[in-house]
Order: sequence, then C-alpha cells, then structure tokens
Amino acid sequence: MNSGRGRPSPMGAGRSARPGRRLRYVKRHGSGPNPGLVIFAALIAIIIAVSFFVIFSKKGGEGPAYFETETERATAETERVKDPFFRIEVPSSGVSEGDLILVNYDHPYVFPKKTGLVNVYANKTDDFKVAYTNYELEERVLDRIASLAAELRRTTGEKDLTVNSAYRSLEDQRGVWDMYEREQGIEAARLYVAEPGKSEHHTGLAVDLTVVRDDGSAVSIRDCGHYEEIDGLLVDYGFVLRYPGNKKDVTHIENEPWHYRYVGEPHSRIMTRTGLCLEEYVGFLKEYTADGTVLFLGPDGLLTSLVFDEAASASDGYIVFFVPAESGEYTRIAVPDDAAEYLVSGNNADGFVVTVKLGDADDGIASVAPSVSETVKKHVITD
Ligand code: DAL
Ligand code: ZN
Repeated sequence: MNSGRGRPSPMGAGRSARPGRRLRYVKRHGSGPNPGLVIFAALIAIIIAVSFFVIFSKKGGEGPAYFETETERATAETERVKDPFFRIEVPSSGVSEGDLILVNYDHPYVFPKKTGLVNVYANKTDDFKVAYTNYELEERVLDRIASLAAELRRTTGEKDLTVNSAYRSLEDQRGVWDMYEREQGIEAARLYVAEPGKSEHHTGLAVDLTVVRDDGSAVSIRDCGHYEEIDGLLVDYGFVLRYPGNKKDVTHIENEPWHYRYVGEPHSRIMTRTGLCLEEYVGFLKEYTADGTVLFLGPDGLLTSLVFDEAASASDGYIVFFVPAESGEYTRIAVPDDAAEYLVSGNNADGFVVTVKLGDADDGIASVAPSVSETVKKHVITD
C-alpha cells in the first residue's frame, strides 16, 4: 500500500539526514532514473494503493460494514433501524428449574442446592388449614394458596380448604411409596405414587388439597359444595389439576382429584382451555419459537399464534414461546422492549419457556424462578 515510502527516492535522498544512504543508492544504480519509468511506476503504485484501500476498508476497517450476503446486510439494517427486543442470557443448566418443569416417570427432578421453601403452618392465615405443621411449599405457591383461600372465604364463607400434602424430600417420597406398597400393594403404589426422585412434590410446586371440617372429618374438595368455586380459583391463581382421569395414559398416574400443580399465569388458563396436561403442554409449546410464530393470549382471552414482532407490538396480553437450550454455558433469549414482566422457566428437558406480560405490570406473573432470575439480572446484555 505504501510502496515507495521509506525507500529513498532520488529527490528524497537529497533531504536525508543520513548522507551515507544517498551514496549507497547512487552506487547501486549507477545513473539517474528514467522519468517515464518513474511516472509509470507511480501510476501502478497509486492503482495498487487504491485497490487495497477499497478491499480492506470493506472487510472491517473504518469504512462501511462488510457483509457476506444480502440477507446479512438486510438483517443488520433492520436491527439498526428498529430492534424492539433486548437480549438476556440464562445458564443453559437452568432447564431443570422453574414453574413449568415437567417432572414425571421419565423426567426425574434435578434436586437443587437450595430452594425457596417456606413453612405452611408458620405462614398460614385463618382462611385455610394444614394437615401437618412441618409442611413446606415454595413461597410464591403458598402466597397463591393464601390469596385464593381468602377469596374463597370472602365469596362462599368456606374456610376449611386444607393443605394435605406439600413438598417432599427424596426420603419423604420413599416413605410414601413404602407405605402404599405395604398397605395396598406394589400395583397401587405404581398407580398413585411417583417413584422417589420423580415426584412433583419434590419441586415444592405441587399441593394435595382436601377439605377438613372442624370436627376432623375430611371431605374431597369435589364433595364440599363449593367445589366449582375452588376449582375456578385454582386456575385463576395459577394451578392445574395435574392428574385428571382422562390423561392417565399420558401421565402414567391414576385420577388424583386432589393433586394440583402450580404452573403460573397464563399457563393454568391456557392448559385448562386447551385441555392439555403438562406432558402435552410442554410438547405443544415447543412449536412456538421466536423465529417462527409465538403463542399470544390477548386481553380479550383469544389464543392465537402470531409472528414475534406482531405479538410484541400488542399493547396488552401474554406472549409465550420456547427457546431450545444452547449447548454452551448460556442460552440467549430475546425479550420485547415493551415487556411489563417476563418469566423464564426451564421445561426439565431441552429448553426454556419464556412468558412475557405486555401492558401494565400486575400480579399476572407471580415471579421469575429464583435461581434463573438472579442470573437473568446478572446477564442482561444490551446489544
Ligand atoms: N401422587 C403423585 C403422583 C406423587 O406421588 O407425586
Ligand atoms: Zn400429590
């Protein structure tokens, strides 16, 4: 590019501070240069210099950006003009954490180092009861139970809704399995009890509910007279009936009208509406991705599938989509700028379900899964 610079020319040599160089040059060539040759050489040098400048400035110098394809150029231009998303990174190992993890016969629970469990009895209100004083639940789940029990009491006077089973450690589940096997046989155990390590009760997100009257008599919530109100409230507060009788081929568990699982809003509503159990729902959500179409629950309650940009420009509602876990340490996720709240949950298999609440923030999304939320805060990235 700079051919000629630093190399003594006959003119430049005369101005050199080092006279010895001129002497060597003159000796080597023996006579002065041909002016025509000098002009020709200078022209060639200029042509080469200009060519180098054009090529290198396009490949990442100070000049215009270099693109391999027209698609890249168009994509970059679109992002420059309008990028209505910000990006976060979550640890790819977070697939086993969150409100939507599937825990079942072939998806064992990955026990975390610590959880957000709280004691139910210590945090109980007068609006509901608990069978044992040592029961624990994830804090957000207990908050929801307390809120729905308060609403149930306000609307029906019912105050006997009872937490009859909650979080279970691996040892607790072994105890339940052994008791079932001892008292009812191995077949009954297989039908009603998840194998230790594969129970939703390990998550702190599952709760068995019954109704216990003040005289100690227990009634199924379906026989308590306020069943429909309880069931409706459970859905409103983010719970689904986890083992309905018509899904036992999928869940591998018999009808359990007492076992509810917290999945959060709007998933409880969508699952109830679509009639999908968690196994089916997790598979269903994988069809909705940011580069295809996402699931959109409008404020009018309409469930549709929209391209991401279109859904993100809505003024209210929920967007739900799946992001496959990346093989690296972190998985990158795009979140709409207009998100009032968002939640990232693993599915305990191969990726993350992202839930975005548009419009005003409210209590629609209870919380971000604890371990993921801390990381999300740490890894919000701005490009
Ligand atoms: N009863 C449910 C299936 C459990 O044991 O987790
Ligand atoms: Zn249960």
